[in-house]
Amino acid sequence: GAPVTADVSKLEPGQRMTVEWRGRPVWVVRRTPDMMERTENFDPSRLADPDSEEPQQPSYVTGPLRSIKPEIGVLIGICTHLGCSPLFRPEPNAEGVGTDDWPGGFFCPCHGSRFDLAGRVFRNVPAPTNLEVPPYRFESDSVIVVG
Ligand code: FES
Repeated sequence: GAPVTADVSKLEPGQRMTVEWRGRPVWVVRRTPDMMERTENFDPSRLADPDSEEPQQPSYVTGPLRSIKPEIGVLIGICTHLGCSPLFRPEPNAEGVGTDDWPGGFFCPCHGSRFDLAGRVFRNVPAPTNLEVPPYRFESDSVIVVG
């Protein structure tokens, strides 16, 4: 499949947009400072692979936020359990995510898997690995090329 571009110039802080790449949804989230802080400071013992040691991301994506720019997250929007589409639940006290201690993230309604705003999977959920980060680069400040 050909690479696709995502124009993030109109993506507001705290919002997510979706583009399609190779038949799969790719989420682009513009994280707020608060969202970044909640993700970076979240208790790593709550996560199955906090340092992303399983290869679900390109080598140039490092750190807890798993991104090139801290404020822009790019993730494949497919649950690593059985492929459902997780829901965007960025707020810290989101209802229905099955935990009070929620840093904001993605909740899969199919079998209850939880991922933080960097796509890192929680412990003790059905999904075995973090959400995948696709290959991507910044063509300019506001245009991302995925693929
Ligand atoms: Fe997401 Fe099963 S498909 S928890």
